[in-house]
Amino acid sequence: MKKTLEDLDFNNKKVLVRCDFNVPLISGEISDDNRIIQALPTIKYLIEHKAKIVLCSHLGKVKNEEDKLDKSLIVVAQRLRELLNQDVIFINETRGFKLEKGINNLKEGQVLLFENTRFEPLETKNDPELAQYWGSLVDLFVLDAFGSSHRAHASTTGVSKYVKDSCVGLLIEKELAILGKALSNPRRPLVAVIGGAKVSEKIGVIDNLLKIADKIIIGGGMAYTFLKAQGYEIGISLCEDDKVALAQEYLTKAGDKLVLPLDSVCATTFSNDGFVGTFSNEIMKEDLMGLDIGPLSIDCFKAILKDAHTVIWNGPMGVFEMDNYAKGTEAICECIANLKDATTIVGGGDSAAAAKKFGYTDKFTHVSTGGGASLEFMEGKKLPGIESIANK
Ligand code: 3PG
Repeated sequence: MKKTLEDLDFNNKKVLVRCDFNVPLISGEISDDNRIIQALPTIKYLIEHKAKIVLCSHLGKVKNEEDKLDKSLIVVAQRLRELLNQDVIFINETRGFKLEKGINNLKEGQVLLFENTRFEPLETKNDPELAQYWGSLVDLFVLDAFGSSHRAHASTTGVSKYVKDSCVGLLIEKELAILGKALSNPRRPLVAVIGGAKVSEKIGVIDNLLKIADKIIIGGGMAYTFLKAQGYEIGISLCEDDKVALAQEYLTKAGDKLVLPLDSVCATTFSNDGFVGTFSNEIMKEDLMGLDIGPLSIDCFKAILKDAHTVIWNGPMGVFEMDNYAKGTEAICECIANLKDATTIVGGGDSAAAAKKFGYTDKFTHVSTGGGASLEFMEGKKLPGIESIANK
């Protein structure tokens, strides 16, 4: 068990908190502040416990100087001020005198945020000198960036070695409790709904869930590789030819545990205007591509979901960003969200975006803040950031 906030004394201590403030920006404005909101309980706990709080995070991918222009965390500092209703000192540096002075001048309960950790080129290399430097600025380290905990970077994994003590924050505690229970000791039946474009991106998850889940429903673009393995015509639908044999292997191994779509909403081109109509697997045509599950599949998936006591949903059922192919994802999202006696979990990424778009976010038991991190967790992998934290 990893140490949690309760295991450390924060009174008058300088505390570095690694958050995941990697929020989407549109024209420089935050378009979804959920990750900032999810970080608030830990920050408020530390304020109440009189810590001197130093927040850090990455924002986007930074490969060169130009990338830095629109990836400053200053917008996050502004939003944090509003949400916390107190000042948040922003230091537009990742090291040096200004940062050190800012931290040393902090009073109990004050909050400082420094600039995007990826402005340091060696952050993503988990450079020990950089980790040691950030560690040297504080007494304690709290990792609360669940969404980045699969990254072995200096600010997520490296820094805990160079502080007096470390623990995970409240967000990570919550993510681990809910996702962990669903995977290790779920209320059954456990139904996993896996979608998205590619089988190759979900191999690890399918592998692991085959051992755990009672049913695995497959939708989205990846379903066509499975349908091809079953011998169906899939037209010009997305297919990973090098994964057809693997899909065949899963189908043989899983038997009726794996459930595939029965029909598809089809188009001639990958566009909303390319819409043609709905075709069952048996009458699919060679010049069509499936871009959503059809009504037969929706009914079949709903019939399985209605008895579930735990549902893990990861990946959309179709191209929900285009109106003509959104119905499948919306119907399955609505069905899961409305289950009365079930723990319902959205595994982050695109499914979290879909739940938000269709207005069901609040109806799920838990919407993970992780994209890649929740995927890796569902694959049964250890997350290096969390592994680096001190044990109880
Ligand atoms: C995410 O958005 O999944 C996390 O913030 C990690 O971001 P990354 O993929 O750029 O490391």
